[in-house]
Amino acid sequence: MKKTICFLLLLMGCAISFAQSSPSNGMQIFIDSLLQKMTLEEKVGQMNQYNGFWEVTGPVPNEGNAKLKYEHLKKGMVGAVLNVKGTANVRKLQEIVVKESRLGIPLLFGFDVIHGYKTITPIPLAEAASWDLEAIEKSARIAAIEASAVGINWTFAPMVDITRDARWGRVMEGAGEDPYLGAKIGVARVKGFQGQDLSSSNTIAASVKHFAGYGFAEAGRDYNTVDVGTSTLYNIILPPFKATVDNDVKTVMNSFNTLNGIPATGNKFLQRDILKGKWNFKGFVVSDWGSGAELITHGFAKDLKEVAILSANAGSDMDMESYAYVTHLKEMVEAGKVDIAVVNDAVRRILQVKYELGLFADPYRYCDAQREKDLLYHPNHLAAALDIAKKSIVLLKNIKTTGQGNPLLPLNKNQKNIAVIGALANDKNSPLGSWRVGSDDNSAVSFLEGFKKYNSNFVYAKGADLVNGPTDFIHEVKINETDKSGFAQAIALAKKSSVVIMVLGEHGFQSGEGRSRSKLDLPGVQEALLEEIYKVNKNIVLVLMNGRPLAITWAQEHIPAILEAWQLGTQTGDAIAQVLFGDYNPSAKLPMTFPRSVGQEPLYYNHYSTGRPNTNDVVFWSHYSDESNEPLYPFGYGLSYTNFEYTDLKINDSDPSAIRVSVQVKNTGKIAGEEVVQLYLHDRVASVVRPVKELKGFKKILLHSGESTLVTFTLTNNELGFYNNEGVFVVESGDFDVMVGTNSIQGLSAVFTKK
Ligand code: BGC
Repeated sequence: MKKTICFLLLLMGCAISFAQSSPSNGMQIFIDSLLQKMTLEEKVGQMNQYNGFWEVTGPVPNEGNAKLKYEHLKKGMVGAVLNVKGTANVRKLQEIVVKESRLGIPLLFGFDVIHGYKTITPIPLAEAASWDLEAIEKSARIAAIEASAVGINWTFAPMVDITRDARWGRVMEGAGEDPYLGAKIGVARVKGFQGQDLSSSNTIAASVKHFAGYGFAEAGRDYNTVDVGTSTLYNIILPPFKATVDNDVKTVMNSFNTLNGIPATGNKFLQRDILKGKWNFKGFVVSDWGSGAELITHGFAKDLKEVAILSANAGSDMDMESYAYVTHLKEMVEAGKVDIAVVNDAVRRILQVKYELGLFADPYRYCDAQREKDLLYHPNHLAAALDIAKKSIVLLKNIKTTGQGNPLLPLNKNQKNIAVIGALANDKNSPLGSWRVGSDDNSAVSFLEGFKKYNSNFVYAKGADLVNGPTDFIHEVKINETDKSGFAQAIALAKKSSVVIMVLGEHGFQSGEGRSRSKLDLPGVQEALLEEIYKVNKNIVLVLMNGRPLAITWAQEHIPAILEAWQLGTQTGDAIAQVLFGDYNPSAKLPMTFPRSVGQEPLYYNHYSTGRPNTNDVVFWSHYSDESNEPLYPFGYGLSYTNFEYTDLKINDSDPSAIRVSVQVKNTGKIAGEEVVQLYLHDRVASVVRPVKELKGFKKILLHSGESTLVTFTLTNNELGFYNNEGVFVVESGDFDVMVGTNSIQGLSAVFTKK
């Protein structure tokens, strides 16, 4: 055994010096040699991922699963673990495999670092509202710095699932409904996690997920069936995955759902033909948690042996917590059901990521206790989290009320007689949102704490509890549906106040995995509270905290000022206060359509035209009898404390491969502000019908009061083409409508002809 370790060290040293002159050549030589040394059992071991099972700094486990996993570690039968964190734990576990297993191949340590590790940044849907790719990349960067400081070297993020149905709880985890924006944001996040040099001790491998179609769960119910046509698959679902693969994402996670009848984990078309074939993806595919074993419940495999055969052959390289590979894959290879080349290919991909992370050079690269002490909640991270948090807040409405010269927002820093109402205002946990497994509970700056720093002339009443009882990541949140006993006190305060700030919305654990809703209103008694307060005071600023679009139609009709503050993470209260008091002029735009009522879902801006889109005095057109077709707030919508004027839309199509579209944008208000200038295209006639509108460009600009600038976009075949139903990207000549504006429904339009 000792002999082998020495040989391996020698081999590593030699490969590393090769690596310096020619990294990929050096890596291939190293991996080839290692593969030759590996037994089939050890190869299969690399394809096995276990959940963290034991506080490794504690006593050695001797019961059930934990004992088995421990034995497997020593035998080199584990390639990666998840949910093990802390440098001491990671080092201890790494030592077991490095020192005690025959070949000493280091482990990957995976974790769901979704929006921060300790310093929690806004939920991804909120960050997407910033349309600020630099800030989003930075947010992922600080997440990687903190995660890597506690020993983690692989995150299961970003989620790039396109989501059109606000009922689905996981909309909070992605970038919303648009594939163009989603692709840009996915790439920014991957860059943030992986950095310039993956082998540096503060970068980690990313994993785009969930491949593919998970966001199209029928009726927004998590884990539900996905049945989509080729056009939607190629043009809507796949582009963010392709963009991140093109930008060198190291791993891809497959998915729980079936896609057109084939479970994603056993889906050869997705994983082999598209991902590893057409796209030439060089990293590895990890299954979702137990998604291999779920092939049985889906009715696709009869037992775990078949799971091993079907998922390995389909290209799922690593099995997370299904025990299919570790238990049966060796036997299935020996029985000729899985070719050894399939195993070799999977193992090569996994070893390659380990190599690129620098784990063969130093398996303890991520185990520096000093970094762990120094970097969590680092002031730079808190500053970056505050920056992205304020950039994520969307101003939905801000009008004058009777008797007032100005809109309610921004508030005056010396304003007297303010009432703050709502349980969420005093909550330090819910604003952290869902999917923040590394975070400390109750570590957010609450709304009240942030507000107080600006103005303490307020009284507070919660009005009503939002939840009944404790909340956590794995149990259903119990909402207070009946108790209105606090209403009277809140109403009394509101009556005496000049302005009322109502902080309402969803609990942070009402969205996320397994948390679909069939209603999209303000949960519990909050709508009733809002309407009661409105009866006694109309000067209401509604601050929303939620993890998905809400159908707040009554509020939009009645409440003069509405701010969408999502769940903004650690710096929530400070970010909201900066916007409320005008120290930051809101600039965010919705990355997902807000419906007027839940029955409109899925509702999204880039739909096709029906054959009967136009209103008619008889009923035979595409509509609801009891609801408008229009959204409450469209995709791309968001206001500012200043105004922007768009003029002079010009098109230069003399070069058909680079059509230039320009527009003059002027800040006509009194203060500086940022605007997201958005460009939408519509291909009027095509061999496969095209959506009525598609985002194909955006620029975020800062303009001072009175300042004007020319914003130019260049449209190439990438923007003008689409995937046909054979999955081939085609560009067709003909007329295109172009619209440039402030959101997906307001802007200047023109037509050009693509030659
Ligand atoms: C989720 C994944 C996650 C995995 C590991 C699953 O339930 O769907 O997104 O990465 O668990 O925690």
